[in-house]
Amino acid sequence: MSKSLFRKKSIDGILKDQQEGIGEHGAGLRKVLGVRDLTFMGIAAVVGAGIFSTIGGAAYHGGPGISLLFIITAVTCGFSALCYAEFASRVPISGSAYTYSYVTFGELIAWTIGWALILEYAIGNIVVAISWSGYFNNLLVHIFHIHLPDWLLIDPATAASAFHEAAKALATGKITDPELLKKYQFAITAWNEAPILAGKHVFFNLPAFIIVALITWIAYIGIKESKQSANYMVIFKIAVIIFVIISGAFFVDVNNWTPFLPNRFEGVLKGVSAVFYAYIGFDAISTTAEECKNPQRDMPRAMIYSLVICTALYILIALVLTGVENYSRFKDVNDPLAFVFAKRAPWIEKIISVSAVVATTSVLLVFQLGQPRIWMSMSRDGLLPKKFQQVHPKYHTPSFATIITGILVAVPSLFLQSGVVTDLTSIGTLFAFVLVSGGVLLLPPIEKQAGKFSLPYINGRYIVPVVFALFVYFFRYRIINAATHLTTENHQEILFLLFMLIALALSIITIVRSYSLIPILGVLFCLYLMIEIPTGSWFLFFAWMALGLLVYFLYGYKNSKLKPAAGRE
Ligand code: ALA
Repeated sequence: MSKSLFRKKSIDGILKDQQEGIGEHGAGLRKVLGVRDLTFMGIAAVVGAGIFSTIGGAAYHGGPGISLLFIITAVTCGFSALCYAEFASRVPISGSAYTYSYVTFGELIAWTIGWALILEYAIGNIVVAISWSGYFNNLLVHIFHIHLPDWLLIDPATAASAFHEAAKALATGKITDPELLKKYQFAITAWNEAPILAGKHVFFNLPAFIIVALITWIAYIGIKESKQSANYMVIFKIAVIIFVIISGAFFVDVNNWTPFLPNRFEGVLKGVSAVFYAYIGFDAISTTAEECKNPQRDMPRAMIYSLVICTALYILIALVLTGVENYSRFKDVNDPLAFVFAKRAPWIEKIISVSAVVATTSVLLVFQLGQPRIWMSMSRDGLLPKKFQQVHPKYHTPSFATIITGILVAVPSLFLQSGVVTDLTSIGTLFAFVLVSGGVLLLPPIEKQAGKFSLPYINGRYIVPVVFALFVYFFRYRIINAATHLTTENHQEILFLLFMLIALALSIITIVRSYSLIPILGVLFCLYLMIEIPTGSWFLFFAWMALGLLVYFLYGYKNSKLKPAAGRE
């Protein structure tokens, strides 16, 4: 059995299955995407809820020093992007990291990655839909003066906790801050105005549901329509971000940049998940490989271009944000860009709110395109039912998988709270990045071909041990502390020690086997960011992966195309 769990597909076999799939269903995907579209699609997927929303908390904990985290995360994503690019040029198929790991690590790991990618795309999109709804409501209220009933705008758990917190605080009768008082009274009114069904107050996030339904429809009717919508949205949001950087520069007070690390580096590290979340998305380009005119040339370029553009914008935004407003003011701020302009230039705040709606819409669109294409590849391999590879005869999109994705994102976005989902999305994505980076090391060497991207080989034998030694030096106190208090240490520090052991082992193997530098650094950087995410979210991640294994053994293992025909059900 253990052998069959690691059965691998050959690159030629995958390309053949794709052609057979087209023959069987009579329709293939439309090849309409060029390098510019792909770069735009990358930016469309990256710039969204992260920069407009989740980084507020990161700025509060890390201060101006979060710009360092933006650089570290960009470097980490850069290593992974190069590894994705190598795979994308060798395996131009829609399955992204899932397909890449099928070729290198075998079926079980590939399935695991496919399952983890649901965290990045579908579950990640629930957060984006909720964030979209918040900004959309902001627009309705501040620009159109339309007030929807609160019970149509919020999930039940958030409404209940806001009500209980408000009731408790108001009972003390000591609230003097008018803003806080308004917030509490608001929560009580919302609770009292909600309809009651079977003895329970009814709350749901209707705008989040509607936007997912609309986006699913666009993704269903065609990649061309999706591409055009994404292109317009990207031009608009990039223009607004550049405008925010330039206009924000006039309000910067350099005194806010000191101290640069108010809570030392520990404070900066609290933002890992939020900042990484802001970068997620460039890899989504790889799910459209079969719709590219020249995937082997254009996809690698587009991934790198989109990452470079987003990194430059993000570092500048981080500096402007923490330069205009003191970091300590970002506590519980979920709309940091709008927040810094609210009092200084309210008209800019309005532009930012419009842009946030546009930006999150484009993220939704690209992720809503990505998920069905991964399922389509998994279905071609027999790991999911055949319906998932069905391509619409008229629209040339994976129709059934697109609808299922729509339901999977739209329904939970009515009721779920976004909080921990961000961490879960970041862990799932980092996990995929680790395997893609590691997988490159297992690819057979090939001749360099003109027009195709290939990862430059730099011998890691000397550099990796030096990087490891530097890391040990900078983190020496944390290592000593964690190791000497092993039995009483919290789970986070145990993860840290595990990371140190893995890093040591990888450094030794790199010396012995002269491994390529970029993939090894990709693995190490991603693993490091992963272990900085709170352990509570790790437990949820393990539970999700355990569920995935169960599904695999109940369905995929028996129906895999790599299983001898007699054994398939
Ligand atoms: N990077 C994407 C966003 O920030 C997921 O919305």
